[in-house]
Amino acid sequence: MKLGSLLVGLVLLTGCGGDKESPSAPLKVGAIFPMTGNTATYGEESWNGIQLAWDDLKAQGIHFDLKLKDEKSESQTANIQTKTLIENDGVNVILGSVASSNTLQIMLAAKEAGIPVITPASTNDTLTEQGGPLASRICFNDSFQGAVLANFALNEGWRKGVAVVDKAQVYSTGLAENIRKAFEAGGGTISFEYYSSGDTDFANTIQNVANQKPQVIFFSGYYPEGGPMIRQAGEKWKGVPLVAGDGFDSPELPKLVGDTSADIFLSSHFAADAPDPKVQEFAKRYEERFGQPPGAMAGLGYDVLLVLADAVKRCKDPRDPEELGKAIAATKYKGITGYMDLSTPDRTPRKDAVIVKVEGGLKFYRAVPAAK
Ligand code: PHE
Repeated sequence: MKLGSLLVGLVLLTGCGGDKESPSAPLKVGAIFPMTGNTATYGEESWNGIQLAWDDLKAQGIHFDLKLKDEKSESQTANIQTKTLIENDGVNVILGSVASSNTLQIMLAAKEAGIPVITPASTNDTLTEQGGPLASRICFNDSFQGAVLANFALNEGWRKGVAVVDKAQVYSTGLAENIRKAFEAGGGTISFEYYSSGDTDFANTIQNVANQKPQVIFFSGYYPEGGPMIRQAGEKWKGVPLVAGDGFDSPELPKLVGDTSADIFLSSHFAADAPDPKVQEFAKRYEERFGQPPGAMAGLGYDVLLVLADAVKRCKDPRDPEELGKAIAATKYKGITGYMDLSTPDRTPRKDAVIVKVEGGLKFYRAVPAAK
C-alpha cells in the first residue's frame, strides 16, 4: 500500500512536470471577502469566524493553506481576485463573499475555471443556479427570507408597507420582490422606493416613504445606507416600525442609526445571545479574542470552513474539483448557525432564521423555523 502510493506520487511528479501538489500538502483554499470599502465589517467578521474554525481544525491535525483576498466591497474586484486565486495561487476551492452581487462575480469566474465555491452568506436565489453545480451556500435564500420578513409584519397586524430598495444591488431588488410576493399573498399592500449603494443623502426617499403613511417600512439593502437613512429620517418616520433583512446585520448598525425611538427588527442567520449553549460558548470565545460580540457573518464564517473540512473528509481526492463539489453538495452538518442540508436541488439549505431587535446592540428576539 505504502509502496503503491509512493509510486503513484512519483508518476505524478514526473508525469506532470513536477508541479502537482503532493497528496499530503494542505489543500489550497481561497477566501474572498470585503476587507475594505463600505461593507468592511462583513469581511472582518467573516474572516474572524474563519480564523476560529481554522484554529479548531489545526488542533485536530487538519491543515488548510488558506489565502485571503480583499474584494474591497466591489463586484469587479471580486471577479479579478477570483481569477488571481485560481490562476496564480492555484486554489482548489473558494469561500466567499457576502454581498450577492460580488459573490455572483466569484461564482461566474470560478465556474469558467471549474473550481468549487461556497458562499457563507449570499442569499440571492439565483446565485447557485447561475454558478452551476460546483456552487453552493450554507445560508438560506431570499425567497425564504422575504417570507420571514413579510410574515413577521403581517403577524404584528401591519398591512400597509413601503419597501426601501437599493437598485444597485441584486440582493436588495431580489429580496424586495420576495417580500412583496409574500406580503401580498398574506393580504398586505406594498410599494417600493429606491436609492443606490453609495448614496449619503436620503432626503427624497425619506419624504416619499413618509408621504405614503405606511404601517411598516421594509429595508432590503445594506447597513451602510440603511443606518444613516434611519438617522436622517428622525421625526419623519416617527412611530413606524422598521423591518430589515440580513444586510442590516452589523455591529456598526446601532452606531449608524444613533439615538432613535424606532422599533427596528431584522432577520438574520445567527444571534450571539440566542439561548443555545453552543452559540453562547462560541460568542464568549469570539468576544474574548476580538473584543466584540459576533454578528451573523462571524457565525457563518466559522461554519463555512468547517463545512468545507467535513466535505474534504468525505473525498478520496479533494483536489478533484468535481469530487469536492459533489461532496460539498452532499453536506449534512450541524453548525452554530443551525442545521444545514445542502443536498437540495439548488445546493441551498432550508435553515432556520432568527429575528433580531436593535436595542443598543443586536438582540435575539425570536427564532423562525425553516421552510418545509
Ligand atoms: N445576504 C446578503 C446578500 O446576499 C449578505 C449578508 C449576509 C449581509 C449576512 C449581512 C449578513 O447580499
